[in-house]
Amino acid sequence: MTEAPSIQWWRDAVIYQIYPRSFQDTDGDGVGDLAGITSRLDYMSWLGVDAVWLTPITTSPDDDFGYDVSDYYSVQPALGDLASLDRLLEAAGRCGIRVILDIVPNHTSDRHPWFVDARGSRQSAYREWYVWADPTHDGLLPNNWLSAFGGPAWESDVATGQYYLHQFLPSQPDLNWWNPQVRDEFDRILRFWFDRGVAGFRIDTANKVVKDSLLRDNPRVGPMDHPMQRRLGQRPAWTSSQPEVHEIWRRWRGVCREYEPERMLVGETWLFDLDEVARYYGADDELHLNFNFPFMYADFTAEALRGVVERTEAALGASRWPVWTASNHDVSRFPSRWCGGDPRRIRMGLMVLLTLRGTPFLYYGDELGMTDVAVPNDSTADPLSRRMPGQHRGRDPERTPMLWRPGPGGGFTAADVEPWLPLGASPVNVEQQRRDRASALRLCRDLIKLRRDSSDLRRGDYTSLDAPDGVWAYRRGTGTVIALNFRDEEVGVHGVRGRVLIATERAHDGTDVAGVLRLGPAEAVVMISPQH
Ligand code: GLC
Repeated sequence: MTEAPSIQWWRDAVIYQIYPRSFQDTDGDGVGDLAGITSRLDYMSWLGVDAVWLTPITTSPDDDFGYDVSDYYSVQPALGDLASLDRLLEAAGRCGIRVILDIVPNHTSDRHPWFVDARGSRQSAYREWYVWADPTHDGLLPNNWLSAFGGPAWESDVATGQYYLHQFLPSQPDLNWWNPQVRDEFDRILRFWFDRGVAGFRIDTANKVVKDSLLRDNPRVGPMDHPMQRRLGQRPAWTSSQPEVHEIWRRWRGVCREYEPERMLVGETWLFDLDEVARYYGADDELHLNFNFPFMYADFTAEALRGVVERTEAALGASRWPVWTASNHDVSRFPSRWCGGDPRRIRMGLMVLLTLRGTPFLYYGDELGMTDVAVPNDSTADPLSRRMPGQHRGRDPERTPMLWRPGPGGGFTAADVEPWLPLGASPVNVEQQRRDRASALRLCRDLIKLRRDSSDLRRGDYTSLDAPDGVWAYRRGTGTVIALNFRDEEVGVHGVRGRVLIATERAHDGTDVAGVLRLGPAEAVVMISPQH
C-alpha cells in the first residue's frame, strides 16, 4: 500500500545536519547549544530546509562527542536540557521545520550505569546487555575482530576475567542485541523522544548492531573490496549486516507507525555494496532512508558520479528513496575533498546534491562552501587522531564552528571567548554571502526553492543523457535537464533546447538554448527542456 503524501514528507525534504557543539553558542562557553539552534531557526527557514538532524544530544562523557551515551533519556548539560529541547521543537514546529535526533544503539559509554553494573560481576543483571567472551584456551583474544577506531575490538576486563566487545573506542562497549531486554529498552527510548515531538532518528552505525552470536573470525579484505573497506584490513562478514539486524529495523519501523505522522528513520549504513544498502529499506517495512557512502566517497568527476548514481538507481529501483550527502561530521567537507576549495566546483557540488532523485542532506556550512579547517595538534579534540596517529587525520577539521559573520567569534560565540575548535581563516560567512547574489549560499537557497516548486525535481525519474567527456547530464521527470561540466575548459553540449533556470555562473540564469548548450569551465545548469 502506498503511504499518503503527508506521511512521506521526507521524500520532498531537504535535511540539514547540525553538529550542535559547533552551530551557535548562546551561553558563552565556546560550545554551541540547543538554544543556539533555536535562535538560528529564522536562518534555516530563510534557507528553506524542511528538517534538521542533530548529532547526539544525549548525556555523554564526550569521549566520542555524544556517540558514547551515558543516559539515553536526558540532554547533555553543555547543550541544554529537556526544556530547551522542547523549546526548540516548539519553535521549529512553528517554522515548519522537523527535528530529527541521532540514536546510538550499537554501544553505550563505559560510564553508562548499565555497563558499570555489567562489569561489576558475571552475575550482574546487566551482564548480558553487553557482549562478553572468554579468552581462548591459550589466553588470546576471543577472535580477530578489529575496532573501526584501530586495534582489536576486544578489551580485557581484568576484574571479571572476560573480554568485552567494542567496535569503536574501548570506552564504547557494544550492546548485545540478541538480548530481548535490550530490544525492549530501545523501544522505550524511541517512544520517549517521539512522544516529545521528535520527527525521527538517524541511526548510528545501523549495519553493525547485531553481530554473529558464534563470534566467528572476519575474513581478510581482498582486491575487490572498496578502498575504504581495505583501509580497515578485514571484511566485516560477521560484524555487519547479519540477517537478524533486519528484525530490529522492522521492529523500530513498527514503533514509528504508532505515531501520526509516522516517524522517520534514516540509517547510517556504512556499506559499499549498494544492493546491501537496498536491503535496509526492507519491503517498505524497515528504514525509510539510508545513507549512500559510495556516493560520498566517489571522485568528483562526471564519470564517477554518473556511475555511482546509475548504480544507486539500479539497486534501489523506483520504490526505495535514495539519499544524497556529500559531507558529514566524519569525513572531510565536500568543498575541500571534492572541490579543493574552488568556488565554481563547490557551486556544482551543491547543484548535484539538490537535483538528484532522492533526499539531500546538507551538512551545516555546505551551503556556504565552508572548507575543512586545519586544527593545530594542541587543539585536537577528536579521539581518532590520537588513537590512530599517522593513519587518521581526525575529524576536527570538518567539525569547526559555523561561520555567521566576519570577525572574532564569527557570530558563533562572543568575540572574547575561545571556541572549542578554531574558526579557521576561511573568508566565507553567512552575512556576506546573503548579500551576494553570486554566492554559494544564494545558489543553494535558489536551488532549494526551485526544487520545492518543481515536481520534476522532487519526484521525477532520473535518466542519464549522452554528453561529451567530462560532462554529466541527466533528465529529471519529463521537462528538467541538469548538465554539469567538470572540465577546466568550455564545452558545447549539442542537441539541447530550452531555457536555463539556474546556472552556477548566475549571470547565465535565463539564457535560451537553441540546439547547443555552452557551459563554461566548471559550470553547471538546471534547465527547462521539454522532452520531444
Ligand atoms: C558513527 C558516527 C561517528 C561515531 C561512530 C561511533 O560512525 O557517525 O561519529 O564516532 O559512529 O559511534
